[in-house]
Amino acid sequence: MINICNCKNDTLIMKDRNKTLGEFIIEKQEEFKYSSGELSRIINAIRLAAKVVNYKVNKAGLVDIVGAAGEQNIQGEDQQKLDVYANEVFIQTLINREIVCGIASEENDDFIAIHGKAGDDNNKYVVLMDPLDGSSNIDVNVSVGTIFSVYRRVTPMGTPVTLEDFLQPGDQQVAAGYVIYGTSTMLVYTTGHGVNGFTLNPAIGTFYLSHPNMKYSKDGKIYSVNEGNYIHFPQGVKDYIKYCQMEEGDRPYTSRYIGSLVSDFHRNMIKGGVYIYPTSSKAPNGKLRLLYECNPMAFIAEQAGGKASDGYGRIMEIQPTELHQRVPFFCGSENMVAKAEEFMAKYK
Ligand code: AHG
Ligand code: MN
Ligand code: MN
Repeated sequence: MINICNCKNDTLIMKDRNKTLGEFIIEKQEEFKYSSGELSRIINAIRLAAKVVNYKVNKAGLVDIVGAAGEQNIQGEDQQKLDVYANEVFIQTLINREIVCGIASEENDDFIAIHGKAGDDNNKYVVLMDPLDGSSNIDVNVSVGTIFSVYRRVTPMGTPVTLEDFLQPGDQQVAAGYVIYGTSTMLVYTTGHGVNGFTLNPAIGTFYLSHPNMKYSKDGKIYSVNEGNYIHFPQGVKDYIKYCQMEEGDRPYTSRYIGSLVSDFHRNMIKGGVYIYPTSSKAPNGKLRLLYECNPMAFIAEQAGGKASDGYGRIMEIQPTELHQRVPFFCGSENMVAKAEEFMAKYK
């Protein structure tokens, strides 16, 4: 947690013993003896892009950045101006630094192959991202986020990336994280060695390690699902929701649903809970995208001791077939997800 002292003149001063994200990245880089530093540079680029987007998100309402951009993405969703802006910022920041060989984004129909200045493709990582998650919440001043996922390419270095480099199961991720633009802005990420959260001090534009080694509790008391769709849910989900609402033991649980995956996930990781976006008769594959929403969140969840499932099995073991593939998503405290799976199995 951030150590702060509440001074007489009402300013909050952060004690300097909190590590900055920059220091943390350098420290971790030193732990991997033979690494080239590319992954560190990617996290650094995301840190920078997050600050730029944060600046814009904070001005929403003051400048002409709220509302629809007038276009739809490949998934038929109306793009918001901030979706387009965030997409450009993250893509340009990564391209300018020549640290990745390919990028895939929710807002782009196809993946982007990046060629280095020398005309070669000698970077080994690809990044997949949801540049602005929860964008329908921008206009009403509710938390939004960015989600990212990093893989090592599978095709030979020095050749242009192909779809194969992006269609990898989640258990092949080398890093994943999210930025939450909330009451404070945080960057939370994992490289497969636990989960750490950094809070932005907006006065000086620096992220500080505020949430080291984040962990889900085994059980929780919050369930997060868009119950407005209840009538369309599979019977297993309906039964699980009734189970959450039943008066027995530590139940009924509390219902909390923001409608921004990043924000709902973040709260549940800190407080203990389960997030569910199931299939429905209206959305037979669910709504959330496997590659840049579910897989990165699943990696973070597992690294924090939680669990992520499609209702029947592990999210990170699904072999993707399409860039914008959708899957049902059950994610959170281990015992809660396991319980939901039990209900799902009854109707398989
Ligand atoms: P995005 O803004 O990137 O399209 O993602 C929106 C997603 C996710 O953040 C959220 O959990 C979910 O959509 C909410 O969907 P409903 O409005 O259908 O509940
Ligand atoms: Mn999203
Ligand atoms: Mn989005």
